[in-house]
Amino acid sequence: MSSFPETRLRRLRRTGALRSLVRETKLDRSDFVYPLFVGPSSQANDELPALGRFSVDDLSREAEELLGLGLSAVILFGIPEEKDDEGSGAYAADGIVQRALKGLRERYPDLVLITDVCLCEYTSHGHCGVIENGEVANDATLELLGRTAVSHVEAGADVVAPSDMMDGRVGALREALDEAGFEETAIISYAAKYASAFYGPFREAAESTPAFGDRRGYQMDPANVREALRECELDVAESADALIIKPALPNLDVIRAVRESFDLPVAAYNVSGEYAMVKAAAAAGHLDERAAALESLTAIKRAGADLVFSYWTKDLARWL
Ligand code: PBG
Repeated sequence: MSSFPETRLRRLRRTGALRSLVRETKLDRSDFVYPLFVGPSSQANDELPALGRFSVDDLSREAEELLGLGLSAVILFGIPEEKDDEGSGAYAADGIVQRALKGLRERYPDLVLITDVCLCEYTSHGHCGVIENGEVANDATLELLGRTAVSHVEAGADVVAPSDMMDGRVGALREALDEAGFEETAIISYAAKYASAFYGPFREAAESTPAFGDRRGYQMDPANVREALRECELDVAESADALIIKPALPNLDVIRAVRESFDLPVAAYNVSGEYAMVKAAAAAGHLDERAAALESLTAIKRAGADLVFSYWTKDLARWL
């Protein structure tokens, strides 16, 4: 093996064109999913623009803009007018996400419509399932998640993404969808979703902070990676079509481990706190947002993610 001075790795770093020729990881807008929040009225977010919300009417203007930027996939989150103990707004035929889906489906047949299937934005207590004896009841929640997924697909969703972390939800969703005749609808499972401090800005935007306790009884302990592989294994056995790791940057090793253990498409969710950290640092003059975002997204892809859910998706489409 040759070494210095015959070998000089700087030779291929000399110019931008040379660096581009040997670049191992490239960002492509078709690998990105943009989160959209829909609520009773539009509400801009000056600090964190991607966490602003749209009314059903304004949403279609946004979709138009995204398609114009060459983007092809969105994930929808709903903020309902009213919440209750059972999160009934999540599975109401005229719920906020269902109405948004109907509008978008008709006008934009080519836009991939993914929905986040979870009760936390719809429950008065803010937990991702129904409460029995002070705890989130797993099996009673499954039935409601199944109803939610079916109502989304009836309204026009292409893909459902369960994010609640109940045991058995992928199997429950598959069964509910198949029974309703939706055998062709894919399930992208948030398989390894950690109980993370980085969801803060999302919970503010979606008004889904738990009213008591926390989510550590169902979301994963950030200390564990073998458990993440078990979660993925179970979701694959329950027929998940793709796996999501979330958050992304604190879990690049988990993305890599899942990539090496499974042949399903692997997704990473670059969450609200990861976006907010860079935004805040950039606003304070500590770093350049665009460079930091591109470096972060490249690292997530390099770790093994095929697709990335990110609040920078729209900016990225302009930067590329
Ligand atoms: C719903 C859900 C959450 C996120 C995605 N789906 C919130 C949570 O689990 O508390 C977080 C996304 C983000 O922070 O960007 N359960």
